[in-house]
Amino acid sequence: MKLKSVLLAMSVALSFNAHAQAPIVIKFSHVVATDTPKGQAAERFKQLAEKATNGRVKVEVYPNSQLYKDKEELEALQLGAVQMLAPSLAKFGPLGVKEFEAFDLPYVFPSKTALYNVTEGEIGKGLMKKLEPKGIIGLAFWDNGFKIMSANRPLHTPADFKGLKMRIQSSKVLDAQMRALGATPQVLPFSEVYAALKAGVVDGTENPPSNMYTQKMYEVQKYVTLSDHGYLGYAVVVNKRFWDGLPPAIRTALEKAMREATTYEKAIAQRDNDLALAGIRSAGKSEVYTLSVKEQSEWRRVLLPVQKAMEERIGKELIEAINKEGAK
Ligand code: LMR
Repeated sequence: MKLKSVLLAMSVALSFNAHAQAPIVIKFSHVVATDTPKGQAAERFKQLAEKATNGRVKVEVYPNSQLYKDKEELEALQLGAVQMLAPSLAKFGPLGVKEFEAFDLPYVFPSKTALYNVTEGEIGKGLMKKLEPKGIIGLAFWDNGFKIMSANRPLHTPADFKGLKMRIQSSKVLDAQMRALGATPQVLPFSEVYAALKAGVVDGTENPPSNMYTQKMYEVQKYVTLSDHGYLGYAVVVNKRFWDGLPPAIRTALEKAMREATTYEKAIAQRDNDLALAGIRSAGKSEVYTLSVKEQSEWRRVLLPVQKAMEERIGKELIEAINKEGAK
């Protein structure tokens, strides 16, 4: 009897210990290649987080839509099938947080400084708060860059878009942007863009160079225009129940790891895009065109009214507050 209770006590202690030692797993799913600003920062976060928690936390990064495509990944996060994502800011509309689409407005950020004033200031904080009722916590804004346009015909003026079917992300602002240019927008998951361009299901698309290059879109697009007409960035988000349930010391360590990964991400984003553009140029499959000053003003004339048209969806005050940061 005595031996039995000693054995029982030992087995309870062992199982408690095993439980205490079992790593906390963070599945971090994303849709882009590892060799992109987001992909590299996810890897950096993994390293930092595992080191800071002495291996108590294990971060499993699943790039390239390996686990989930655009829309599915947000559903998976809410269900707790994955713990962390970094969707582009253009993909929060279907979740019911339309305000994130403000980042898609044409010409809303005249510079990266204006962007950071928004993401790192009160506006950014307020936007992240809107995720919480959806069971999601926003940890950081990650950067990518300003977008370029591509198609199999030269895109110099808005008139060149007439009749083109352009792939967009699931943002109503991007829908309005393509319609303002005279094109027909078509929402497609990121993982399907290359094949859709190749098969001619869509005629063209937009993205920063890092995505065009790593997905090899330039192989199936004859013309690329450096238009800088809009921005693409990300929100790193976690499942709220998971995050709130972490031991406080672990959560603090992960927050620090995220801050460091974010600093790294911002430092590499521009360089990565510059290298990607150089890669597109040197592959020689797409002709890269820079808009003239006159063409730029024509694009602005056609696209700026999208800001006004989207006031009802996104909020006039928010759009004005963002533009104010840009005017500083
Ligand atoms: C896209 O779907 O075009 C991009 O948002 C993909 C990404 O996450 O950069």
